[in-house]
Amino acid sequence: MKVINTIQALRDELAAARAEGKTVGLVPTMGALHEGHASLVRRSVKENDVTVVSIFLNPTQFNDKGDLERYPRTLEADCALLEQCRATIAFAPSVEEIYPEPDTRQFSYPPTDTVMEGAHRPGHFNGVCQVVSKLFSYVEPDRAYFGEKDFQQIAVIRRMVDDLGFKLQIVPCPVVRERSGLAMSSRNTLLTPEERRAAARIYSILEESKDYAVDHELEEVRERAIRRINEVSELEVEYYSIVDGNTLEDVHSWDDSDSIVGCITVYCGQKPIRLIDHIRYK
Ligand code: PAF
Repeated sequence: MKVINTIQALRDELAAARAEGKTVGLVPTMGALHEGHASLVRRSVKENDVTVVSIFLNPTQFNDKGDLERYPRTLEADCALLEQCRATIAFAPSVEEIYPEPDTRQFSYPPTDTVMEGAHRPGHFNGVCQVVSKLFSYVEPDRAYFGEKDFQQIAVIRRMVDDLGFKLQIVPCPVVRERSGLAMSSRNTLLTPEERRAAARIYSILEESKDYAVDHELEEVRERAIRRINEVSELEVEYYSIVDGNTLEDVHSWDDSDSIVGCITVYCGQKPIRLIDHIRYK
């Protein structure tokens, strides 16, 4: 695997691969890689001749500077994992390489980027679109792989791809969970063992809510899930929205759509660490 730090070197390497007719998969990451990322990389390696994994802690998508400072940085271990997964290129640029000038572009894809995370983290999806659009134009991948854990992010990126006319396939990949059910996330390493146990309750309560949904109204299910999670010490729900899985608009009854997904954000512990997860009702 080659570790590349500049856009020019990345472009040169990919031009050579393309000249040989090779297909390219891109896995964008912010580093602190775990088994969830590894599953995306393995899938890309299976489906493409060349797999580029970007490792870039993108400052423009952090509306909370403390969150950016706390974010784990583990480049050496990341590269070791990517070698194991047989990635072809790790692209690990500096902030100056990606943003030689401040990026003033504004992206707007309502309601996908205005609800839920969009409402609670102003500017977050704008920063995601800034960096992902840059990565797409450097790499020009045939396929780009994103974890479904960031369910809303995929909806926003799909809109951006349509808007800007990128010719690539977005490949959503299933959430990878720890044995406890906790969705794998780079932020999990910031949890104490006790907080980690509490955090695992998020998914088990969401799972229970699916059974409860069989004979209860949507609003009852939503309120009960919030109450049950808030009863766990260390956890505090920021929002729990039950939405149309395609448009991300709120739904009010189980008959409102063929695709219904519950998306949750929970604060965990003293620091606190912000965790997201979701569950598909139908
Ligand atoms: O999902 C992430 O890790 C980030 O939002 C992404 C897509 C790598 C952009 O920085």
